[in-house]
Amino acid sequence: MTNLTAVEPKLEWQVSQTRCIGCGTVQERLSGILRCPECGDLLEISYPGWKTGGAAGLSSAELKALWRQRRTSRAEIDQSGVWRFREVLPAIAQSHAITLREGNTPLYELPACARSAGVQHLYAKHQGMNPTGSFKDTGMTVAASFARQDGFRWVACASTGNTSASMAAYAARGGMRSLVLIPDGKVSWSKLSQSLDYGAVTCQLRTDFDGCMRVLNEVVQRMPVYLLNSVNPYRLEGQKTAAIELLEQFDWQSPDHVIVPGGNLGNSSALGKAFLEMKELGLISSLPKVSVIQAEGANALVRTLREKGGRELISVQAETMATAIRIGQPASWKKAVRVIEATGGTAEQVSEIEIAQTKAEIGAEGVGCEPASAVTLAGLKKLVKQGFVKPSESVVLILTGHLLKDPDFTLKFHRGDLFNGTGQEKEAGILAVQQRAPIVLDASADAVVKTLEQAEKGGALK
Ligand code: F0G
Repeated sequence: MTNLTAVEPKLEWQVSQTRCIGCGTVQERLSGILRCPECGDLLEISYPGWKTGGAAGLSSAELKALWRQRRTSRAEIDQSGVWRFREVLPAIAQSHAITLREGNTPLYELPACARSAGVQHLYAKHQGMNPTGSFKDTGMTVAASFARQDGFRWVACASTGNTSASMAAYAARGGMRSLVLIPDGKVSWSKLSQSLDYGAVTCQLRTDFDGCMRVLNEVVQRMPVYLLNSVNPYRLEGQKTAAIELLEQFDWQSPDHVIVPGGNLGNSSALGKAFLEMKELGLISSLPKVSVIQAEGANALVRTLREKGGRELISVQAETMATAIRIGQPASWKKAVRVIEATGGTAEQVSEIEIAQTKAEIGAEGVGCEPASAVTLAGLKKLVKQGFVKPSESVVLILTGHLLKDPDFTLKFHRGDLFNGTGQEKEAGILAVQQRAPIVLDASADAVVKTLEQAEKGGALK
């Protein structure tokens, strides 16, 4: 590890505790304990020192300056867009930090998508621009580092593909072995191929994500493996940093709305926690409203809020082509409900056709994302129609995964056969204007020129 060039904060301010989100029991960090020993509910990390001394004893202005200054540092740990914010993360011995220079992801304006959604200021925070192509890297760098510090040889997760790709990469970098449980046939090949290449023991179980999670919970009881799903509160601490970085990119003026896809609901919980903490620490004066969008076929949170007022989870049998969020029993539902309530956001659901349509719109801006990320734009359109988002308000979509994460979906979309056999073929006709199937031609300039002329006439070339 390279030497630090930046000012190091006093570590005593960074002492963290775990607090149960159900019964409130607080305890010091215990290696490998991821649920409350009293009531079994999820844990979250809290920082008792902040009450009296702020984060690392620094003022909000000092924190902003320090974080900005690290952007020019040559130290490995500072070049990480996660560890750059280490004053608001649990303290770790720096020699244990495993980093692939995650975070530091771009914020793009989406003018065409803004017009189609009916808002003036629309941005995408592209978390798919992380080292393994999804937002998972920001959480994995923190949780995998703690696994290494605690001496674990094996880490494990159940996944719809992105967590496993990320975990396998960080385990490999940190000299640990990894075990991946994924639902057979329901994970995109590009995600699966990542975990193979990074050396994970990859098991395709004949069940869905929720079934994989059940099996894994039993495995971790029986074997000394460290669980790296988002029930692990260290994952969420790392994922918080995307929100902090977003605020920095907005010069610490919160946007009005942040829209996040919802699957297991770790990410919305993490981003919301960051916004609330930044307000508590005085780095921002107002909160963005955090809203969560799910696929209609995997809408546990939407139903939980609408039918149970957010008090009791309604599990669903999940089905969606956006396989990343094909989850019926989201582990972090309580945390997500709290974030929505605390920030004044909402939850909405979108159809498969809406997902396909908006994914193509994001692609047509030269940005692109995987299907699960496109629910954000589809959801925004609904929220604008409902009047929840006003046309003059600023909106940020969190794009969670890279376009190349699911090439099958994109190819089928452009070839026009994505909805074959779904019973929605007719409805899917509206997608034709966005489809750009590859054109097979003889190897002649004439044929290409003719195609170009046709495209020019059709207005497809810009
Ligand atoms: N977007 C993408 C691309 C994802 O991979 C996931 C979750 C989500 C959104 C939803 O985030 O679970 O925090 O609400 N993927 C997990 C996985 C479950 O195993 O890769 P969440």
